Amino acid sequence: MSKSDDESLRPATKLVQGGRRPEWTGDPRLGGGVVNPPVWRASTILYDSIADLEARGHATHDKLYYGRRGTPTVWALADALTDMEPGAAGTLLYPSGVAANSAGLLALLAPGDHLLMVDSAYEPTRAFCDGLLARYGVTTTYYDPLVGAGIADLITPATKLIFLESPGSLTFEVQDIPAITAAARGRGVLTMLDNTWATPLLFPALAHGVDVAMMSLTKYVGGHSDAMMGSLTATKAVWPRLRSAAYQLGQAVAPDDCALMLRGLRTLDVRMARHGENGLTVAKWLAARADVGRVLHPALPGDPGHMIWSRDFAGTSGLFGFTLKGVDAAARTRFIDALSLFGIGFSWGGYESLVVPSNPIRTATAWTDPDPLVRLSIGLEDPADLIADLTRGFAAL
Ligand SMILES: Cc1ncc(COP(=O)(O)O)c(C=O)c1O
Repeated sequence: MSKSDDESLRPATKLVQGGRRPEWTGDPRLGGGVVNPPVWRASTILYDSIADLEARGHATHDKLYYGRRGTPTVWALADALTDMEPGAAGTLLYPSGVAANSAGLLALLAPGDHLLMVDSAYEPTRAFCDGLLARYGVTTTYYDPLVGAGIADLITPATKLIFLESPGSLTFEVQDIPAITAAARGRGVLTMLDNTWATPLLFPALAHGVDVAMMSLTKYVGGHSDAMMGSLTATKAVWPRLRSAAYQLGQAVAPDDCALMLRGLRTLDVRMARHGENGLTVAKWLAARADVGRVLHPALPGDPGHMIWSRDFAGTSGLFGFTLKGVDAAARTRFIDALSLFGIGFSWGGYESLVVPSNPIRTATAWTDPDPLVRLSIGLEDPADLIADLTRGFAAL
């Protein structure tokens, strides 16, 4: 037990207490404990005897058995993430967010099954559906992110899973997750959500009816752009299927990376608040400019997703998009190249601001906005400096 197992604790407190079980942080032979679970690196685990080896068996989870099964550093991170999702039975860790998404889809789908995939999903998620999953005999139908309760009309007898990503990480549509999960539950269909944008701090997914919550920990949880990892946190009903698939697929994460993720997790609450606040300052400034077409940010009152976002989310992160009005892609390149505080780079959620051009891929719906789209990940800099940097970009248009 760690103190964050206490359901009455609030999320910021759970982030601090999570995974710090005395058996992972303290050694009675040394007379006390340390604050953070140390980095336990291991492949081989040594047993006292064959009886000891047999006693630890395959059924146990948090007993040292073999390196791939994890060590206390790995379990501490998984445990802390589970405690952040009320209603969760456990968390599995994967070497990247993409690996987590693919493992979850494989675990929950079988040949002949039908998957409903949101049209605004992160591109590699689509690639997995159109590639390996199709070869494995799973058919995918992409659906409008704004479908809401209308998802019920798309469910067939073969549908086993609905995948959501909200807000979409390029186009920021907010899905009506409670309506979709209610329709799914009524038909015995599972739901899985890419919750990387919000994290359970802003959107506890399982409490909103989702069966499996996925996160790319690479983003806000790590927070420092120096480690990659993904997670799946699931209800009791689904957890054994994920665990069995993880055992078969053999994906393992490094304890050193888990220690980095745990370090990031402790400050997630304060960082997220600042990312959100800085992002909104920049978004409002952009929205007031004549050379901006629109700002795609659900926390802005005029945004089409604002109502659902206000109803369901406890705050905003710092990732959003905007369009450059009436210019071509070459002007977007000049705009981005003129920035100096914003790094040009993929990923997001780190302490440093990033910018990328984005080109949405759609098959079920059309992305009709002719203006070039830019995505910003707003970091922890002073927003006045970021605004000055963006002003240089607009001057280069
Ligand atoms: C929404 C979303 N999900 C998943 C991922 C994949 O995460 P990772 O880079 O850790 O594989 C990303 C990465 O950009 C993402 O934006």
